[in-house]
Parts: sequence; C-alpha cells; structure tokens
Amino acid sequence: MALLSIRNVFKSYFLHGKRIDVLRDVSLDINAGELISMIGASGAGKSTFLHVLGTLDAPAAGEVLFDGKSVFSMNDAEIAEFRNRTIGFVFQSHYLLPEFTALENVAMPALIQRKDRTPSYAYARELLERVGLGSRVDHRPGELSGGEAQRVALARALVLKPAVLLADEPTGNLDPTTGEGIHQLLRDVNRDLGITAVVVTHNETLARSMPRRLRLAGGQVSEA
Ligand SMILES: Nc1ncnc2c1ncn2[C@@H]1O[C@H](COP(=O)(O)OP(=O)(O)OP(=O)(O)O)[C@@H](O)[C@H]1O
Ligand SMILES: [Mg+2]
Repeated sequence: MALLSIRNVFKSYFLHGKRIDVLRDVSLDINAGELISMIGASGAGKSTFLHVLGTLDAPAAGEVLFDGKSVFSMNDAEIAEFRNRTIGFVFQSHYLLPEFTALENVAMPALIQRKDRTPSYAYARELLERVGLGSRVDHRPGELSGGEAQRVALARALVLKPAVLLADEPTGNLDPTTGEGIHQLLRDVNRDLGITAVVVTHNETLARSMPRRLRLAGGQVSEA
C-alpha cells in the first residue's frame, strides 16, 4: 500500500470574484522511501500541491490518504497532531525565527512538543552537524548566508523525525553549487534516515537527478 496518496483532488482559490482552478483532479501514490522531485512553471500550483499533500490546506474535493487512512476525515486538532508527528516542511521562505540561534530554531519544534530539552538540543546539534553547520549553531538567521539558513530550515524540518519531508524550493535563491549541496543532503537524508521526500525545484538538472520526477502543469500532475 502507498504511504501517501492523493485521490481526485481539486483545489481552487477565489479572489475578488474570480476563481483560479489550481489542482484539477490530481491523483498520485507515493511509496515509503521514495525521493521525488516536482517541477512546473511559476504559478502552476506546486506550493498548493505540497500544502494539500502535507495537510496544511484542505482540498475542495478529493482525499489525502496516509497509510490508507483519510487524513481530512479527522478533526482539526487530530490533523494538526498528525502533521506534527508525520510531516516535516521546508518552506519556500525559510521562516526561521530571527531572535533565536540556529540551534534554538532547529530544536524549537521539539520544545513546542514539550520533548525533554537535553536530548532535543543534542539531536538538533547532530542535525546541524549533518547539514554542515556544526560551527554555526550559535548564529542567528541574520548572521547566516542564504544557503546556511536553508540548511538550518532543513535541519528543523527533521527534528521531529518525520516519515515525510516536503521541501518547497529549498534551493530557490542559492547559487548552483550550494543548491546541489542541499539536494545531496536531501538524498542523504532520504537514504540514511529512510525519509520519504518530495522536493519542488525550478532547477531541471537537480530535478532530473532524483529517482522519480513529477511535473505539475494545467492543474495536473504527470510523471516527468
Ligand atoms: N491564497 C491565495 N488566494 C488566491 N490565489 C492564490 C492564493 N495562493 C496562490 N494563489 C494562486 O494560485 C496559483 C498557484 O500558486 P502556487 O503558489 O501554488 O504556485 P507555485 O507553482 O508554487 O509557484 P512558484 O513557482 O512561483 O512558487 C497562482 O496562480 C497563485 O496566484
Ligand atoms: Mg511555490
């Protein structure tokens, strides 16, 4: 059985009396352990797709299934609990908290979950080392480069040991070498931690380097 499925999902936005159909009958199965890239033009709906897949946003119609169970049939509190436990997000903007250090930012989701502080900080430090930032743990986001901030955001997305990692253009504003470094990290995390990952990118070369490739166009997802 697929780990994550979306079935006949529709999603539209309504703004100023106009309707924008973003996802039009999208169905897709994602198996445990897959590493998937998604490409598509700006405005095609990639962020919308990731948000629905990650239960941040409900579809207008259709279902999101995790382990065969319909996620949006749960109540809001249960969905939030499920999301915290299962999904790690790296957002298109990194959303690090400016007044906290890299280490504190990475540990934050665990502290919010009231996990013990000492092991949470220890794991946060280990993750920062894994993304090559062992020497930057005490830097605040304003004292990091763009690529370093994205790596902190990646470490933060992993701190609760999610089954699924959804990354929305984690290399968006980075030079090609730094971008390739982030993609290599995603491959390592997928292989070493067994995390299922979907990565949105505008970089065709990086997209092609992933074992499975998806394209979003005209509201539909196809294998690329
Ligand atoms: N809250 C909203 N209200 C109205 N329209 C929206 C809203 N969010 C997104 N849209 C529209 O939906 C479409 C899809 O947006 P989305 O952010 O999913 O695109 P994207 O593929 O991630 O683009 P990009 O590559 O630029 O990040 C766009 O045309 C956008 O203008
Ligand atoms: Mg986007």
